[in-house]
Amino acid sequence: MSDNAEQYRADVFGTADRDLVFRDADFDRIRALIYRRAGIVLAAHKRDMVYSRVGRRVRQQGLARFQDYLTRLEEDPSGPEWEAFTNTLTTNLTAFFREAHHFPLLAEHLRGRGGPVRVWSAGASTGEEPYSIAMTLLETLGDRADIQVLATDIDTEALDRARLGVYPLAQVNKIEESRRRRFFQRGSGRRAGFARVRPEVAARVRFEPLNLVAPGWRVEPPFDAIFCRNVMIYFDRDTQARILERFAPLLKPDGLLFAGHSESFSYISDRFRLRGQTVYTPVR
Ligand SMILES: C[S@@+](CC[C@H](N)C(=O)[O-])C[C@H]1O[C@@H](n2cnc3c(N)ncnc32)[C@H](O)[C@@H]1O
Repeated sequence: MSDNAEQYRADVFGTADRDLVFRDADFDRIRALIYRRAGIVLAAHKRDMVYSRVGRRVRQQGLARFQDYLTRLEEDPSGPEWEAFTNTLTTNLTAFFREAHHFPLLAEHLRGRGGPVRVWSAGASTGEEPYSIAMTLLETLGDRADIQVLATDIDTEALDRARLGVYPLAQVNKIEESRRRRFFQRGSGRRAGFARVRPEVAARVRFEPLNLVAPGWRVEPPFDAIFCRNVMIYFDRDTQARILERFAPLLKPDGLLFAGHSESFSYISDRFRLRGQTVYTPVR
């Protein structure tokens, strides 16, 4: 059989380890749908990842062909499956105090502030980033300060985990000891091997679903800082530019926008200028 015929056979009938029918056309359709829905650009090499993740949804619906699943999805534009479909295609990799140099910078920026302090973690994933921000602010401004961290994400499952605030010790043990003692409670019994973020930290963080590419989102400005790290990498340039345009007026004049280590906004929007390593401030 020629390579093409082999591919055709595999696409139509599935291979030994592929029980579902997944054609190039289905992959292209998924790429178009998730781009329209979430702005996420899925690269061609993500085909296997898509098969495995969306495939679970196809099976869960009792179907054998991606095309049938996708038709159902498209026929019900406001149906609940859209949420599950979107959740499966997000990448939630994160960590406490990830890109550690940002946190002392945030602390120095806000040290001594008397009034309310508001920070937005846009693309908060499973919560490690907004909790790290809240811990930094509590250390810097004290327990009595008026601190609120808004933590949003498109992925509702990630947000559910974030709200729980329970993390494996293997992850929490990477945080320096004094912070660990102050901000976490170790589980025992059934919860051995896990630690929970203390209520005084959790009380400073509000989790809400928010799709950054949806036209209608609203948040309550002004913010002292916005963290949008390792989120824009999934978007194309035009989407990034549109989001930056919307971020700019939400920051205080001296506010800070924190980007991920591989993200650069300098050539995408003239609304921000670089202030330090992957940290921007609005141009007024
Ligand atoms: C790799 S995580 C980054 C988490 C955290 N900011 C960090 O740097 O560790 C990317 C997050 O962006 C979220 N995301 C992707 N597209 C989104 C969109 N259109 N609106 C809001 N969040 C989105 C994903 O659900 C995921 O949780």
